[in-house]
Amino acid sequence: MRKMMMGSASTLSSFIVLLALMMVFSATTTLGWNVTYDHRSLIIDGQRKLLISASIHYPRSVPAMWPSLIETAKRGGIDVIETYVFWNGHEPSPGNYYFGGRFDLVKFLKLIQAAGLYSILRIGPVVAAEWNFGGVPVWLHYIPGTIFRTNSTNFESHMESFTTYIVNLMKREKLFASQGGPIILSQIENEYGYYEPSYGEGGKKYAMWAANMAVSQNTGVPWIMCQQFDAPDTVINTCNSFYCDQFTPIYKDKPKIWTENWPGWFKTFGSRDPHRPPEDVAYSVARFFQNGGALQNYYMYHGGTNFGRTSGGPFITTSYDYDAPIDEYGLARQPKWGHLKDLHEAIKLCEHAILNGVLTNISLGPLQEAHIYEDETGKCSAFIANMDDQSEKAVSFRNLSYVLPAWSVSILPDCRNVVFNTAKVTSQTSIVEMIPTKLMPTVSSPERNISSIQWEVFEETPGIWGKADFVTKGLVDHINTTKDSTDYLWYSTSVFVSRDEEFLQTGNQPILIADSKGHATHVFVNGQYIVSVSGSGSDSKFKFEKSIPLKAGENEISFLSMTVGLQNAGPFYEWVGAGFTSVKLEGFNSGILDLTSNVWKYKIGLEGEHLNIFKEDAMQNMKWKSTTNPPKNQTLIWYKAIVDAPYGDDPVGLDMISMGKGQAWLNGEPIGRYWPRTSSINDNCVSVCDYRGKFLPDKCDTGCGDPTQRWYHVPRSWFRPSGNVLVIFEEKGGDPTKISFSRRRVTGACGFVSEDYPSLKNTLKEQKSSSSNRASLQLICPDGTHISSIKFASFGTPTGKCGSYRQGACHDPLSMTSVKQACLHKKECRVVLSTGNFDMNLCPSSVKSLAVEAVCS
Ligand code: GAL
Repeated sequence: MRKMMMGSASTLSSFIVLLALMMVFSATTTLGWNVTYDHRSLIIDGQRKLLISASIHYPRSVPAMWPSLIETAKRGGIDVIETYVFWNGHEPSPGNYYFGGRFDLVKFLKLIQAAGLYSILRIGPVVAAEWNFGGVPVWLHYIPGTIFRTNSTNFESHMESFTTYIVNLMKREKLFASQGGPIILSQIENEYGYYEPSYGEGGKKYAMWAANMAVSQNTGVPWIMCQQFDAPDTVINTCNSFYCDQFTPIYKDKPKIWTENWPGWFKTFGSRDPHRPPEDVAYSVARFFQNGGALQNYYMYHGGTNFGRTSGGPFITTSYDYDAPIDEYGLARQPKWGHLKDLHEAIKLCEHAILNGVLTNISLGPLQEAHIYEDETGKCSAFIANMDDQSEKAVSFRNLSYVLPAWSVSILPDCRNVVFNTAKVTSQTSIVEMIPTKLMPTVSSPERNISSIQWEVFEETPGIWGKADFVTKGLVDHINTTKDSTDYLWYSTSVFVSRDEEFLQTGNQPILIADSKGHATHVFVNGQYIVSVSGSGSDSKFKFEKSIPLKAGENEISFLSMTVGLQNAGPFYEWVGAGFTSVKLEGFNSGILDLTSNVWKYKIGLEGEHLNIFKEDAMQNMKWKSTTNPPKNQTLIWYKAIVDAPYGDDPVGLDMISMGKGQAWLNGEPIGRYWPRTSSINDNCVSVCDYRGKFLPDKCDTGCGDPTQRWYHVPRSWFRPSGNVLVIFEEKGGDPTKISFSRRRVTGACGFVSEDYPSLKNTLKEQKSSSSNRASLQLICPDGTHISSIKFASFGTPTGKCGSYRQGACHDPLSMTSVKQACLHKKECRVVLSTGNFDMNLCPSSVKSLAVEAVCS
């Protein structure tokens, strides 16, 4: 009986426990996570969190890539995926919303959630982001009385409607953390603090209005405003820069959040290729967490592609690769990705102590300092930094000596052992190649010659094709006319030349002198192509003087004026115009002929655009003419070819080096603008990048004199196995027969480690007991390949970089044998710098290193 009673008592208590558990469970599933913050960090369900976040913009890749991008970020030690919301992609015309394909925001967020990651939603909805018109729909500019980003009723009401639309969508899909979803923070506006002074009182009011409007949305998670120097207490103000360790939030109760750490930079057509060295990115992140940082976001972690006409500008390239840890094509960029992964692991080992410990900051020298965090359990973690941008420095810390390379931070999760130093990259360098693959024709009938592509072409008529859209006196603004429905606007005027003009006799052609606000133009006289002129990323305006052939009687002067992405940031940016402002002719008997106020005819867009000939359903258009020998170096021509998908599943780039300027589509999907415009050979490029010292976008440029962009990403998911329709519109002339696909592949891997490199791979316990020879080198080949040969291996004092390593004065002759033994025919291998593998007694006075270059196939 007693037993029974006890039994029923325990049944009762289990029942109560179960009930309590069910209540907790239903509370977390219905109420979700409680996201708050204090001065130290975000607090999720009562726990302080140190968070590493990564920007991946959903429309800059395709849904088929999202799972692997998110997974690669997660493997890289990322906790949070951050994205802007792209208003002009979602509301193409007033009140018409679009969330399909690359704009399926809900799907993107649900994938993040499924991967177990958090998300930050930067709604903006003004976002800059090198995105067309900064993300705001162009139509909004043409609603009379609208001024962006100030207390303009029209602007505020549209901004509020869109923000509310997005918030409601998120709520409906239960995507806020407060509902159990992944979104832990939302952002309103973007870096408005820089521009607010230009808008005077209206700007101040607008900033406060934006914050209040956001907070009143009741998302249940905090709102942030980045670079907003007067942000109200109801939101958290955050920092954007290459370094944010010295940033302090306005209010003492707010955590230190870094919304944009730029691990590289964007490119503009005609400029060079910027790179930020991994050592410096890691340094900036380590310094941030050393100095009390709570959440850091890489802008961008995957930059991706500005497909179609989405790139902002002017002149932002179609590639938005950004030198980011995941490259445009979705491959981990090594060593950057791996070095940051190691950094994240090291920082996470310190998380509890740095978020909950007591901080002591001590100086270790004029430019050296240690931050020590000790928590209540006695756990101690430390960051020791050498801010000297020239020299390494030996410092003494807690009675031990540490050598700190210049401009570096060492991380000591136990205040004793260094597991990571920002300047010592142990991660492999991958050798990535673009392997050319000829365009292969799709064989639809056995008679067809399979070795040559069957081309179809359609030629545009230079000048006003068909009927002019309108005729008026004077020159109009390009953007006000096209409203960005196309890049192209024809300007055309007639000039009468009388028989007694002297230049008809002397042969001294008159000079055409023109000024344009931008962005680029092709000039035609009487249907004949004369010249192409364009502005640049630093100044979109241009002017030109060019002699032109005029005949007696009527002459037609036509400009194909072009925009190359609309302005995406700056005060009153929506008013920046484009197109011609003055046109003159010099060399007439009467002197200068001013054509500015002539009667001009205008035509918006190209005939091919009007016919939608790049779209799949318009493919059978009668305008196309078949040829096996497509014209070369011809202006204003559309090309079409039916091609097979390149072999395998490597990411694909379209090689447009043989072409001039234009746009491309595959199966009706917009690949984007192409323009192999070269940067100047005289620009400042570096062969070796010195990571030491403050980084600026132009510090470590490469590619001087090369085309800024040669390859254009064509997502694999856009291809069918065969019968793919490639359409190219070429403006100024190229050779389409030389267009090819390239497969992007990792074909090799290099590694370089020194005896004194720290290793995360050994646990702290192992480190204490093991000898000092613990550094190791790891090589990994992509799936489906293995290490097929070792090109170089030297343990000793090798020099050089991946692709050009050389033996030094000190070299262990058994290096190659040991490396081969460990690595050959394997997908991945790790070589430890230890006596079993190498002669560790070699040249005892030098620090020895192992350098390896392996081939993956
Ligand atoms: C920031 C801006 C971002 C992006 C970045 C440069 O100022 O907030 O949207 O434009 O610069 O890539």
